Amino acid sequence: MLTRAVTSPERLRSIVGSAGRRLGKYRYAAFLVGEFEGDLDPRQERVLDAIYWQISVGDRSKPGGCHKWTWRSRLRQVDDALLGLLETRFAAGDRLRVHDMAASNAVTSLDLFELLRDRPMASVHATDFFDRLFVVDAALPGWKVVLNADRSLLQFVGPGMVVRRSSLERTPFGKALGAGLKALLYAKAVEAVEAQTPGAMAEIELFHPHCVRAAAEDPRFTLGRDNLFDPAPGTYEVIRVMNASALGELGPEQSSRFVKGLFARLAEGGLFILGLNVGDGASGQIRATICERSGGFLKVVKELGGGIAPAESFEGRKFA
Ligand SMILES: C[S@@+](CC[C@H](N)C(=O)[O-])C[C@H]1O[C@@H](n2cnc3c(N)ncnc32)[C@H](O)[C@@H]1O
Repeated sequence: MLTRAVTSPERLRSIVGSAGRRLGKYRYAAFLVGEFEGDLDPRQERVLDAIYWQISVGDRSKPGGCHKWTWRSRLRQVDDALLGLLETRFAAGDRLRVHDMAASNAVTSLDLFELLRDRPMASVHATDFFDRLFVVDAALPGWKVVLNADRSLLQFVGPGMVVRRSSLERTPFGKALGAGLKALLYAKAVEAVEAQTPGAMAEIELFHPHCVRAAAEDPRFTLGRDNLFDPAPGTYEVIRVMNASALGELGPEQSSRFVKGLFARLAEGGLFILGLNVGDGASGQIRATICERSGGFLKVVKELGGGIAPAESFEGRKFA
């Protein structure tokens, strides 16, 4: 918990500079994501990946918890299936607004945008609810508190140490330390974020630098914040939700409310994609269901790897 911490830009640069190390053995201060920008070389990419891996939402060991890690081409199978379906449904010049939700750092959204770029009326909007971190100077000199976008605790970062929320819940020592740190530092950090106390806090965006650059270069690729359970107004020809493990927690009623909320943002004839990669490995097989909006209903038009849910969850149910 307290060793091999990478908490400063200088230490980060030395890790990037030393090839061939096992990057997962270090604990990274999550705010170091903010040190990466522009074109990244393969070493920088690997270190940035290792940091994303350590940024989690909720408790990863429990249902609903997940990390921010994703990777380019992870959803290639889904992209290919989607392109095939678009071919027969939308002419090259048709308006095609895609919303890729729970996109994490948006690299899979960028993959899809690159495949659609030649369609003049295509756009991809990539969003995630946990799109930023708050970093607050703590009451204890030399310490910072790192909060997720929902103000939940992610890390305490002290001189040469990174204390993760998850490690504070495992052992009796961790629990005792956690109780002390939380009482001392956490509530004040949340107050500073709520009050937007000038100079005391910083916001670090979690979108990948390549996605930030792509969004700056082309207005048809946009990044933003949105919540699967309370989506912002908008209309899309395609809505995709992949690997949102929070959904694994939902009972049938919540699940149908979630689908209803997104259905309301789907254009007539539009496609709704819900799925996941089975396992965490780079070769994780995909299970996904693609539905088409037809009036007040969703009709399953394609399943990958057996689909995400029985067709009955979508078909024959009125969503509007
Ligand atoms: C593992 S990533 C999936 C990234 C990408 N879609 C993929 O398939 O590789 C899961 C993402 O779900 C996001 N998430 C969790 N709850 C969410 C919610 N209520 N609304 C939007 N995004 C959410 C997390 O922040 C995380 O970035």
